[in-house]
Amino acid sequence: MHKDLERILLTEQQIGERVTAVAREVDKAMTGKRPVAVGILKGSIIFYADFIRCLTVPLELDFMAVSSYGSGSTSSGKLKIKKDLDGDVKGRDVIVIEDIIDSGFTLACLKKLLCERGAASVTIVTLLDKHERRTEDIAPDYNCFEIPDEFVVGYGLDYDEEYRSLPYIGILKRSVYQK
Ligand code: IMP
Ligand code: MG
Repeated sequence: MHKDLERILLTEQQIGERVTAVAREVDKAMTGKRPVAVGILKGSIIFYADFIRCLTVPLELDFMAVSSYGSGSTSSGKLKIKKDLDGDVKGRDVIVIEDIIDSGFTLACLKKLLCERGAASVTIVTLLDKHERRTEDIAPDYNCFEIPDEFVVGYGLDYDEEYRSLPYIGILKRSVYQK
């Protein structure tokens, strides 16, 4: 285990099994469609790569990078698009693949934006859900794991751009970020 971690929350094996199971459910629901899989950079990249490889429906891949400003927990917060999609989502079935839903602000803004652009449907898939912290009226359509209100890293998730390449998800020691 990495020395900055309090403990491992989800092992590589637990993640692999659950991601495969959820992807198969989404795949079934998308039968006959040709969705666009939108990965939210950078946190979702490892989840995204594992998830899409379990889908059998024909897929288009696209990515967005966003960051939220303001409190993030009030409507005065704003979502900034750092990298927009390459393709047009008008009339398309969109699968948004995100690492974690916390306040829900990011995904609420993204869903609204994709609907405004004319997406035929928006399906939200998250790896982790810190449901205790939700302030926005939004829930993922599919979520792999509900987790407690702790700061987690690994499997794509970072703290200050570190720890993304850990193959498991761990709780970061408070001493690392309460300096
Ligand atoms: P929301 O807009 O409050 O739902 O925040 C979602 C974003 O916050 C995620 O995309 C992550 O980038 C970040 N985030 C929230 N909790 C964690 C965590 O425990 N570890 C790493 N990133 C997190
Ligand atoms: Mg993120």
